Amino acid sequence: MVPELEKATVRIRQLERVMGIIRSIKAQGRNKLQVISDFDMTLSRFGCNGRRCPTSHNILDNSRVISEDGKKKLKDLLHYYYPIEIDPNRTLEEKRPLMVEWWTRAHELLSQQKIQKGDIAQIVRESDVMLRDGFHELFDQLHKYNIPLFIFSAGVGDILEEIIRQANVFYSNVNVVSNYMDFDDNGVLTHFKGPLIHTYNKNNSVLQGTEYFQQLSTRTSIILLGDSMGDLTMADGVPSVENILKIGFLNDKVEEQRGKYLDAYDIVLESDETLDVVNGILRYIL
Ligand code: TMP
Ligand code: MG
Repeated sequence: MVPELEKATVRIRQLERVMGIIRSIKAQGRNKLQVISDFDMTLSRFGCNGRRCPTSHNILDNSRVISEDGKKKLKDLLHYYYPIEIDPNRTLEEKRPLMVEWWTRAHELLSQQKIQKGDIAQIVRESDVMLRDGFHELFDQLHKYNIPLFIFSAGVGDILEEIIRQANVFYSNVNVVSNYMDFDDNGVLTHFKGPLIHTYNKNNSVLQGTEYFQQLSTRTSIILLGDSMGDLTMADGVPSVENILKIGFLNDKVEEQRGKYLDAYDIVLESDETLDVVNGILRYIL
């Protein structure tokens, strides 16, 4: 059915159940399908050539428009809060207020840096960001069959939109909900618009007022792509779900996090920088 599931990076706890979901999504047909995906470290790569790839926040942090002092403070925040974000021994309830703290402090620092709207394209061009191998096929297939792709990101919306624009895959079937910058009349960043989206509130609470999932209420088959335990709730706003296949990229602290990921995600991809498995499943379904 899907030869890509034989890859060494693939871990599945309940193979028969997974095959059942995939068969069922195919039987329902492509008109019933929608894809909901995280962006940073899910559609974008975690590592390249032995180094870490940047998140959409890191692209700004590392860019020439941030002062040396600003860079140091942003890095200190990352080193303090990132281990908390991925700590398998803390509950989501413990993590949530700390993530609000991280995002709030990072956005305050970025808003003091006089970042120009007009510089964003160049900042992205000069960054080390990479989309996962196979992104072209993924975006092209979904566009070809008019399957909605909802990118739900706690990153920076302006940056991630620019990344997919420069990759020539920002098609009409792609919708993004993320943290967007607000600029003054001179095009200088003043603050980030609300509601704040962080790793652990990616659910209906930040989608109030958007009709997105209501408009797609007939699309009852879902493929969900994420890399964090916080991404598992991204489809909570879908009014009726008949089939959902959750695919999780396990990028970091693989040994420590494996158990939790296997409990929560139907398919876990360990240190796999490609979209091969997702594309293989779509090739079978579409
Ligand atoms: P997401 O992939 O769930 O949308 O989350 C965005 C990632 O951004 C999350 O893993 C933490 C990371 N991040 C930074 O790298 N720098 C920052 O300043 C902040 C606030 C988040
Ligand atoms: Mg992510």
